[in-house]
Amino acid sequence: MDEHTLRKSLSDIPLGGLRTFVQIGSTNDVALAWAAEGAPDLALICADEQTSGRGRGDRRWFTPPGSALAFSLVLRPLPGEEQSVSMFSGLGAIAVCEALGMRNLRPEIKWPNDVLIRGRKVCGILAEAVWMGEKADSIVMGIGVNVKPESIPLSDHLNYPATSIESEMGKSVDRLTLLRDILQALLYWRSLMTKDIFPNAWDNYLAFKGILVEIWTEGVTPKKGVVEGLEPDGSLRLHSQDGQVFTMQFGEVHLRPVL
Ligand code: BTN
Repeated sequence: MDEHTLRKSLSDIPLGGLRTFVQIGSTNDVALAWAAEGAPDLALICADEQTSGRGRGDRRWFTPPGSALAFSLVLRPLPGEEQSVSMFSGLGAIAVCEALGMRNLRPEIKWPNDVLIRGRKVCGILAEAVWMGEKADSIVMGIGVNVKPESIPLSDHLNYPATSIESEMGKSVDRLTLLRDILQALLYWRSLMTKDIFPNAWDNYLAFKGILVEIWTEGVTPKKGVVEGLEPDGSLRLHSQDGQVFTMQFGEVHLRPVL
C-alpha cells in the first residue's frame, strides 16, 4: 500500500491531509497527536501494519502486514454535529456496511459499532473524542477491517468470533478500492448525520433484533434484555424479560487535554 497509489486511488475524496506508514504503533495515536497539532477535518492516517493497534476497552487490535485496512480519520465536528458526537461511531459502522453491501455481503452492526458478517466480527471501530472544555474539538475515528484471512487473530486472542472479507467472498479483495468506497460512504452519510434518516440507516443494520442479549459497561453488573432498536440519539433500546423497556447509552472514550 504505497503512498503514491493510495493518493491516486483517493484522488476524488476531499481529504484534509494524508499520512501513510508501512509500520506504525497505532494510527489512532498518530491521529490524536496530529489533531492536537491542528490537523484539518478529514485528515487520514493509514498503515499497512500496526504493532500496537488499540481496540475498545483497552484491548489490543491485531494488524499484520499486507492483510487488513487500518486507518484513522480526524473529523472536526461541523456546526450542528457537536450535538451528535456519539453518532460518529455509528457513522463509521454504516460506512463500512455500505461498502460491504456493494460487494453483495450482508453486514450487520453489533451495537454500537462492530460490523459482523454471518455473526462474526469483520471490523472494529475506535472513536476517540478530544475535548476542549465541553466541546468536542475533534473526533478520531479509527477503523480496522479484516480483509484477508491472515488478519484474523488466533482464537486465544479473540473475544468474539471473527472473519475476514476474503473468507466470506471466496476471492481476493482490493484494499484500496474498499478504502475508497468506505470513505465515500462516510462522506455521504456524514452529510445526513443530523437527519432522521441517519438513525434509521443505523437501525436497519442492527444485529440481534428481538434476541436476548447481555449488556454491560465497565465495572457495572451486566443486564439482560431483548434488543428492540435504536433511539434517535443512537442509544440502544431493549426490554427486560419482565417487559420493562430500558436504554443503554453510548460508551465512549473521552480525552481531555491538560490545560
Ligand atoms: C474494537 O473493535 O475494539 C475497535 C478496533 C479498532 C481498530 C482500529 S485499526 C485503526 C485504528 N488504530 C488503532 O489503534 N485502532 C483503530
